[in-house]
Amino acid sequence: MAENKIILAYSGGLDTSVAIRWLQERYQAQIVTLTIDLGMVNLEEIRQRALRIGAVNALTVDGKEAFYKDFIIPALRAGAVYEDQYPLATALGRPLIARYLVEAARSEGAYAISHGCTGKGNDQVRLDVGVNALAPELKIIAPIREWAMSREEEIEYAQMHNIPVPLSKGPYSVDENLWGRSAEAGDLEDPWREPPEAAYDWTRPVGDTPPEPAYLEIVFEGGLPVSIDGEGMGGIDLVRHLNRLAGDHGVGRIDHIENRLVGIKSREVYEAPAAVVLHTAHKALEAMTLSKEQMRLKARVAQEYADVVYNGLWYTSHRRDMDAYFASTQRHVSGTVRVKLHRGVCSVVGRSSPRALYSYDLATYDRGDKFDHRSSEGFISIYGLPVRTQAQVQGNGGE
Ligand code: ARG
Repeated sequence: MAENKIILAYSGGLDTSVAIRWLQERYQAQIVTLTIDLGMVNLEEIRQRALRIGAVNALTVDGKEAFYKDFIIPALRAGAVYEDQYPLATALGRPLIARYLVEAARSEGAYAISHGCTGKGNDQVRLDVGVNALAPELKIIAPIREWAMSREEEIEYAQMHNIPVPLSKGPYSVDENLWGRSAEAGDLEDPWREPPEAAYDWTRPVGDTPPEPAYLEIVFEGGLPVSIDGEGMGGIDLVRHLNRLAGDHGVGRIDHIENRLVGIKSREVYEAPAAVVLHTAHKALEAMTLSKEQMRLKARVAQEYADVVYNGLWYTSHRRDMDAYFASTQRHVSGTVRVKLHRGVCSVVGRSSPRALYSYDLATYDRGDKFDHRSSEGFISIYGLPVRTQAQVQGNGGE
C-alpha cells in the first residue's frame, strides 16, 4: 500500500478541484481522482481538468448499467420513496460511488479515500459508512469537513494555486444521476418562497407543456419495466426516454421539506420524471396483482427500506433481507399499465394483467355478476358478532 496515495471522488466542481491541491499539501500525498458517470457526466472533460490541476492519475468509470441494475431496479420494486416524496436518486447513487472508490483504492494501492461532502449533509454518512462496510482498513478524508473555507476563500485559494475555477451552473447545489436531480441552497432555503424556474432543469413549467396529453403503455414482467408502447426497451434507455417525455409534460417536480439524518430539516427541490412515472405505474400494477395483505405489509417494509437507503445503510444484511422479500413479492407483477401525462400530472388510466386478482365477474354490478349476495348475510353475522356482544354488555362506544 502506498503510504501517500489518496483516491479522491472528483466531480469537476470547485470543492473537489480545490481539494486536489489542498490534499497534496496537507497530506503530502499523490492524488488519484475518480469520476463516475451515473448518467449525467462528461467524463473526458472532467478527467482532463483533474490532470491539469495536478492529479497523478485520473480514473473514470461508467456506472450507469450497474446503477440501473443494482440500485434503481431494487428501489422501484420496493416502492422506495422517502417520506412519500423523494425517489432517492442521490441516496441510491452514493453506495455505488463508495463501491467504486474502494475498488480504485485497492487497484491503486491507496491508503485513503477522499470526497467533497460537507459536514452537515446525508451524503458524507452514506459514503463514509459505505466505505467502512466495504473496506474498514481505508482512511476517509473529507476536506470540506476540515478546511473551514468559505466559498469566497475557496475561490481565492483556487486563484492562488492556478486552479481553473469551474463555471458555476447556477445559484444552487445540484446533484444529478439517471434517477433524478436534486437542487438545494440559495433562495430555496426560504421554505415560503416558491422555487424559481431556475431551480429546474429537467422539467418544463406547466404553462409551457403540450396542450394535448401523452398516453403511454408500460409493460412490466415480474416487476421490471420491459417495454413502452410496444417497443422493447429496458435499462438506461427506458429511464432516459421517460425522463425526457415526462419532463416535457412537466411531470416529476417535487418540493420537499425533508428530515435529514443529521437532525436538521432541509428543503430540496427534486426532478424525477422517470421515477415518478415508473413508481406510479408499478404501484398500479401491484394493486391488480397483489393481495390486500401483501400490499399492506409491502408498504410498511418499503418505508423502512426508504429510511435505510436514505440513512446510508445500503451495505447491511438488513437491506439485503428486505430486497429478498421484495423480489419474492414481484413474482406475479406482470402486465401493462396505461399512463397519461398531462400538465404536470402523471395519472394511471388503465391496467391489465394475465395475473390479475381483479375479477370482472366478481366486481360487476351488471348481469354477469358471480358474487353470491346471499352469503354476505352469514358473513356479516359472524363478522359483527364481537361488536354486538360488546355493545350489549358495555355500550356501543358512546353513541
Ligand atoms: N437531500 C438529498 C439527499 O440527502 C440530496 C442531497 C444532495 N443534494 C444536493 N443538492 N447536492 O439524498
